[in-house]
Amino acid sequence: MLANLGYGSRKEVKMLLKSKAVKVNNEIIKDAKEQVDPKRDVVTLYGDIVEYKEFIYLMMNKPPGVISATEDTREETVIDILQIEDAVFNPFPVGRLDKDTEGLLIITNDGKLSHRLLSPKKHVPKTYFAVISGKVTEEDIEAFRNGVILDDGYETKPGELKILKAGETSDIELTISEGKFHQVKRMFESVGKKVLYLKRISMGPLALDETLELGEYRELTEEEILLLQNYEAKEG
Ligand code: URA
Repeated sequence: MLANLGYGSRKEVKMLLKSKAVKVNNEIIKDAKEQVDPKRDVVTLYGDIVEYKEFIYLMMNKPPGVISATEDTREETVIDILQIEDAVFNPFPVGRLDKDTEGLLIITNDGKLSHRLLSPKKHVPKTYFAVISGKVTEEDIEAFRNGVILDDGYETKPGELKILKAGETSDIELTISEGKFHQVKRMFESVGKKVLYLKRISMGPLALDETLELGEYRELTEEEILLLQNYEAKEG
């Protein structure tokens, strides 16, 4: 917690603990493994209360093979692969990506922000890169622009499809402003094609940081958090 808040490197914080500078609920704590509950425990450093941030905002490049949930009895979740220092905030993924989908996943404990980003009323656009079996055509662009009927009879809102490469397999980008279950896969199924690979590259004003390897994540910058918040204001 202290290292996260910028009180020093993990090594430096361990020295602070050793020097008995840190108390949790008025008790000197020397073990770096000690868990604290930021909502309940009072942490002091040399007698000064350590103000703990309330919210955490992470951007993960979700790897395939983990599920977008907080807990699961069988499957590994995106929360399981967080460092404990981040997991203590009890964050959750903002929306879902399929188990085999990669890319941008926002993970936060800010319920309000999450709600606004996911609200169907806000139409937050999400852009995906995908590899599709077969040749994606101008007709598909037109069909997606007009909305397609999914297997359950739902008619999608307009989606913006860009063809990056068309051939035996096609590379595309698709922007949609909804989040129906398996939406991208089902949209392509509706035009007789199959998604072979799927990666989310942006959500609202936030683009995936391409320097993040699969499974890596980082905190959003102040600027990115503001972008998200201002974006909400515009949409709301
Ligand atoms: N659409 C899908 O089909 N899968 C995802 O994971 C995200 C969007």
